Amino acid sequence: MRPSCRYRPGLRHWHPLLLSRELGARPVARRLAGQVIVVFRTASGRVGAVAEACSHRRLSLAVGRVEGEDLVCAYHGWRFDPEGAIRCPLMPAQRQRHQAFQVCEAHGLIWVREASGPRPPLPRWSADGLALAGTVVHHVRAPLELTLDNFTEVEHTSTIHQVFGFADPREIRHRLELEPGATRVWNNGPQKWFLPLFNGLIDNRPGDCFANDWVTTFDPLLTIYEQTWISPKGKLRRFRLKVVMFFVPLDDALTQLVTLIYSPKVLPGPLHRLLAAPIIRAVTSRELNLDVWALEHLADLDTELNPRSLGPLDRVLMENRRRLEPCYLRELV
Ligand code: FES
Ligand SMILES: [Fe+2]
Repeated sequence: MRPSCRYRPGLRHWHPLLLSRELGARPVARRLAGQVIVVFRTASGRVGAVAEACSHRRLSLAVGRVEGEDLVCAYHGWRFDPEGAIRCPLMPAQRQRHQAFQVCEAHGLIWVREASGPRPPLPRWSADGLALAGTVVHHVRAPLELTLDNFTEVEHTSTIHQVFGFADPREIRHRLELEPGATRVWNNGPQKWFLPLFNGLIDNRPGDCFANDWVTTFDPLLTIYEQTWISPKGKLRRFRLKVVMFFVPLDDALTQLVTLIYSPKVLPGPLHRLLAAPIIRAVTSRELNLDVWALEHLADLDTELNPRSLGPLDRVLMENRRRLEPCYLRELV
C-alpha cells in the first residue's frame, strides 16, 4: 500500500532518481512521492525499477539479489524481470505481474516514470557548446514547494551565497515573463564581492555585472539557469555557467535536487576534466549547500505563501505555485 503523500506519483513525468554510477551489482531502494522503488541492473546492463514489497509475502526486494536478467527475492526466491514479469519456483504457471516502472538511462542518470503505455521523450536541453563539469545530487529536508521557492528567487543571493550572487538586492534589474507552462526570469546587477578563490581558472571578477536568467517548466519540474558576467568595460566574460536543475519530490518533506553543471573548458586538454571541472563542480555544489542550509533552517515546513509578505522579487513564487499544483499535487478528496 502506498504511504500517503501529497505529491502525485508522477504519472506523466520522468524523474531523475539516481546517478548511473550509484547502481552497481546490488539493488538499491529509492523513494519517489512517498513510494519506495527498488532499482536494479541486470547482467546484460538493463535497468529495472519495481515496487519494493515482494508480491509474494512482502519482503523488501532491496535485500534481494540480481541473477542474470532477474531480481531475486531473498525470502522464497521469486524472480522479477525489469518489466515486472514474475517467475515462481513452485508455481511455474503463475501469470501475476509485479508493479514495475518505466526506466531509461541518459545523461549519467537513471530516470523513472510511473506509468504504462507510450514513453514520452525525456526533457531536452542544449549544452550550448559547454562541457559538463559534473552532476551533483542534494537532498533537502523541505517540501517541493519551499525548495522551488528558494531556487527561483534571487534576493537571497546577496546574503546566503558566497560566490554567485548580487552585491545588493536593491540594484537588481528584474524582469518576469509568464507563459502557461513556464516562468522566465531575468536578473542583472553588480556581482557581489567574493574571495578570489578560483580567479586563476575563470575571468569573472567582483565588480562585474552578473546576469542570472532562468526558465522554470513544470512537467517535470525543471529550472535551467544561464549565468553570465560582463566586465566594467561591457565585455562579456568568457566564463559562464549553465545549470540544469531537476526537483524531485521524494516524500512530503524531502526533495531531491539533481543538478547538471555546464561551463566552458577553461584549461587545455585533459587538464580541464582533471582539475578545472572538479573545482567548478565543488564551488557550485557548495553554493547549493548554502541553499540547503537555509531551507533546513526554516522554522517550520508550512508551504503557505502570504502575499502581503512577498517582495518585488518574489512575484514569480506565486506564479510557480499555480503551475506546479496541477502537475504535482494530488487532488484533495
Ligand atoms: S516474500 Fe518474496 S518470494 Fe516470498
Ligand atoms: Fe540560492
